[in-house]
Amino acid sequence: MILPIYLYGQPVLREVAGAIEKDYPKLPLIIANMQETMYKSDGIGLAAPQVGLPIRLLVIDADVLAEDYPECKDFKRIMINAQITEFGEETISLDEGCLSLPGIHEKVSRSKMIKISYLNEAFEPQEEVLEGFTARVVQHEYDHLDGQLFIDHVSVIRKQLIKSKLNSILKGAVRCSYKVKMLGRK
Ligand code: NI
Repeated sequence: MILPIYLYGQPVLREVAGAIEKDYPKLPLIIANMQETMYKSDGIGLAAPQVGLPIRLLVIDADVLAEDYPECKDFKRIMINAQITEFGEETISLDEGCLSLPGIHEKVSRSKMIKISYLNEAFEPQEEVLEGFTARVVQHEYDHLDGQLFIDHVSVIRKQLIKSKLNSILKGAVRCSYKVKMLGRK
């Protein structure tokens, strides 16, 4: 089932999401729905708060970027209760966008390398070192679990420049090619 994507202004996007217990109701269905929603909206990652659920769940499939970023080949993950345990010192600044912030793209500085531990969909512990664009995708999605958005990382000046776009989202004056939930709309 395709789920509506919660847009900027929805309080759930600013919450710190909670850890997921093994008996969390309908988790496999939620994962399947999030994946379907991600593919349908041409996203490469989706965090549970973006579909209104304040839980620490990420779905990612960055394979579509493999031509530009070879490290993204077959990079498909389900991450439960992820913890980034190390952020590499070296950073790189690249353009990012977000399904919850339609029409906004800004350069964001991120660590080139991260170490992450998480549970897969079978609740088996995993540990990975990620480098390049996969590290960026995961850092972006991970931010969502702590109530952060990529625009929080841009400069005060850039933020001033995108203010009208943010206000348009808040007013519901944006067009999206995917199903969304906007502030003040049912
Ligand atoms: Ni996002």
